[in-house]
Amino acid sequence: MIQYELLHICKQSGARLGRLTTPHGVFETPIFMPVGTLATVKTLSPSEIREVSEGLILSNTYHLWQQPGNDIVKKHGGIRGFMNWDGALLTDSGGFQVFSLSKIRDIKEEGVHFKHHKSGAPLFLSPEDAIKIQEDLGADIIMSFDECPPPYETDAYMKDSVERTIRWAKRGKDALTTDQALFGIVQGGLNQDLRKYCAEELIKLDFPGYSIGGLSVGETKKEMYEMTRFLNPIMPQNKPRYLMGVGSPEDLLENVINGIDMFDCVLPTRNARHGTALTTVGKITIKNKKFESDMSPLDPNLSTSISPYTKSYIRHLFKAEESFGQRILSIQNLAYLKHLMKEIRQAIKEDRLLDFKKEFYEKTNYEQV
Ligand code: GUN
Repeated sequence: MIQYELLHICKQSGARLGRLTTPHGVFETPIFMPVGTLATVKTLSPSEIREVSEGLILSNTYHLWQQPGNDIVKKHGGIRGFMNWDGALLTDSGGFQVFSLSKIRDIKEEGVHFKHHKSGAPLFLSPEDAIKIQEDLGADIIMSFDECPPPYETDAYMKDSVERTIRWAKRGKDALTTDQALFGIVQGGLNQDLRKYCAEELIKLDFPGYSIGGLSVGETKKEMYEMTRFLNPIMPQNKPRYLMGVGSPEDLLENVINGIDMFDCVLPTRNARHGTALTTVGKITIKNKKFESDMSPLDPNLSTSISPYTKSYIRHLFKAEESFGQRILSIQNLAYLKHLMKEIRQAIKEDRLLDFKKEFYEKTNYEQV
């Protein structure tokens, strides 16, 4: 099980500072969790993951169920044993992947029939299956099986979908046989009434934490921020709130102000593999010609294990398609988000997060909407 304690609310912004205690580590929130979809944070070793995370990472049910299979992961004592990770873990339920990766699917009350995203093989996943697989994977925090509909579906569709997600959450809770912490996931698209209804129904089921899903799926940033702002007073004060799949620097800051405690996103590592660095002064496209003979370090204000390398060298690695370049930027981008979240927590403690926000947009090229 986990424990969450609300430690302080920033007097200037309303943002929350908390402490999340898990069987494999105690964490201050708000926190960003790097994504290790297939039991690896792409290109990094466990000691590097340690360096660039707080010690809490995310992995995915859908992917590990399919490859190599949850039975094989279980044989290793779960994901932690499999990937030699001694920190804490959260797994997503597979709900999102069924809806985002597979174009052909048939949603029934008992679960979802769909085709494998690569082989096309027929598959079925139910709320109970998602719990059983997550029990085998052995994470500290696990997710309910939910439906993540596109944001601009009709209200009638959204209503059906939300009702089903609530029933699936209850079924998942009833199926759980371990003391892993199971979160409920609030859905409802951009409809405030449905979001409120979904949150209230899940709160009645008394989960140890609540996720907000169905955002960062095609809506505008303004719509996303409005929804987290709307949900802030509805969510319980004494439980962690996790905004799923959101993690650009500006989104972290804006959503912390709207009361979010936990985040994950592939953005920092995916950007890294495509040559975009996230730094304390903003985004950098490292392949740019202007860095060809640039002798400065990638980030002048952040000391990491990759600090010795010049922009010129990292650009060279990308131009030569050397994989070490991807590793360097993965370390940089995650280290930067870790640094940013630490600065945010400090600003909350000192009741000056709005001042921090002003400076953040002045000092960087991250864009305010
Ligand atoms: N990851 C990002 N968004 C979602 C969502 O809506 N549901 C689930 N299960 N995972 C997500």
